Amino acid sequence: MRRYSRIVGTGGYLPPRRVSNNELAAELAARGVQTSDEWIVERTGIHARHFAAPEVASSDLAEQAARQALEAAGVAAQDLDLVIVATSTPDMVFPSTATILQHKLGITNGCPAFDVQAVCSGFVYALTVADAMVQAGSARCALVVGAEVFSRILDFSDRTTCVLFGDGAGAVVLRAGDTPGILASDLHADGRHVGLLCVPGHVSGGAILGDPLLKMDGQAVFKLAVGVLEKTAHATLEKAGVAASEVDWLVPHQANIRIMQSTARRLHLPMERVVVTVGEHGNTSAASIPLALDHAVRAGQILPGQNVLLEGVGGGFTWGSLLVKM
Ligand code: ACO
Repeated sequence: MRRYSRIVGTGGYLPPRRVSNNELAAELAARGVQTSDEWIVERTGIHARHFAAPEVASSDLAEQAARQALEAAGVAAQDLDLVIVATSTPDMVFPSTATILQHKLGITNGCPAFDVQAVCSGFVYALTVADAMVQAGSARCALVVGAEVFSRILDFSDRTTCVLFGDGAGAVVLRAGDTPGILASDLHADGRHVGLLCVPGHVSGGAILGDPLLKMDGQAVFKLAVGVLEKTAHATLEKAGVAASEVDWLVPHQANIRIMQSTARRLHLPMERVVVTVGEHGNTSAASIPLALDHAVRAGQILPGQNVLLEGVGGGFTWGSLLVKM
C-alpha cells in the first residue's frame, strides 16, 4: 500500500511588536529615508509587519509556532522522528536552527534535525523533503517549520527593501498514513539569478567580509516570480491529476499582493480563494506560507478534505509548489 504524509496540525507565531507603515516611515525619516504608508500599501499591499526583540532568535519564534502545531495535532514533541527548519536567518552559522529547536522542544530521542536554505521557497522545499522521507518510510511524524528574523538583515537606509519584510514563524506536523495527504510537489532552482536577491556577506577569519544586508532588484524579482509561480502551479496540478478549478485555496508566498493577484489571474482563481496575510505580516520569507496556512486554518477558512495549493519563490532563484489535501 502506498504511504502518504498528511498535515495533522498547524501553528504560527508573530513577535508581539507590530510596526505599522506610518511608524516605520517615521523611524526611517529620522534617518533621512523617505517613504509613506500610501506608497507601501499601493505597491505591495503591506500595512504592517512584526519585528522581534533584539534578543529573540529564529529558534525562539520557531518554538512557539511548533508548540502550537504539536498541540493542534495532538502530538507530543518526543513522538517526532524528524525536525526540519527552513530559514535564511539561522541563530548561528552552525549548528542548525533545527537542532537548537529540537533541544528547546525537549526532544531527546535522537531524531534527525536539519535546516533547509531556499530563502522564501524554504518552506515548500522543506515540506517536500519531509514528505519524501515519510513516503520512503524513514519518518512517521515530522515537524516542518519556517522561521525568520529578516529584520536583522534589512538595510534601513534602502527604502526599496526595508519596508517589505517582517519576522515570524509557521509550522506543520506531518503524519504518515495510507490516505493522501500531500498529493504532489514540484521544486526548481536557477543559480544564474543568485545576484538578484541576496545577502552577499560571509564570515571569514573572525570578521564579516562583504555586505551582510539584503540586496534585491525588485523589478527583476517581480517579473521572474510571476512566470515561475504559474509554471510550478501547473506542473504540480498536472502531477496530481487535479484541475486548477478544483483548488479550494491558494496559499502563496506572501511577498506582494500584486504578485499574488497576477498568479491568481493566470490560474483563473478568484482572489476569494487566495489566502492573503501580507497586509499584516509583510514578507516573512520561509515563514510566510506556513503562517498564512495556519491563519486560514484557525480562521475556519481552510477545512478538512479541501485541496490547498502552496507555492513559493525566492532568492537563488528558487521556486516550487505542493498540492495538499487537508
Ligand atoms: N517608498 C517610497 N518610494 C519608493 C520606495 C519606498 N519604500 N521604494 C522605492 N520607491 C521609489 C523608487 O525610488 C522609484 O522612484 P523613481 O521613479 O523616482 O526612481 C519609484 O518608487 C518606483 O520604484 P520601482 O522599483 O519601480 O517600484 P515597483 O513598483 O517596482 O515596486 C517593489 C517595488 C515593491 C520592490 C516591487 O518591485 C516588488 O514587489 N518586487 C518583488 C519583490 C519581492 O517579491 N521580493 C521577495 C522575493 S522572495 C525572497 O526570496 C525574499
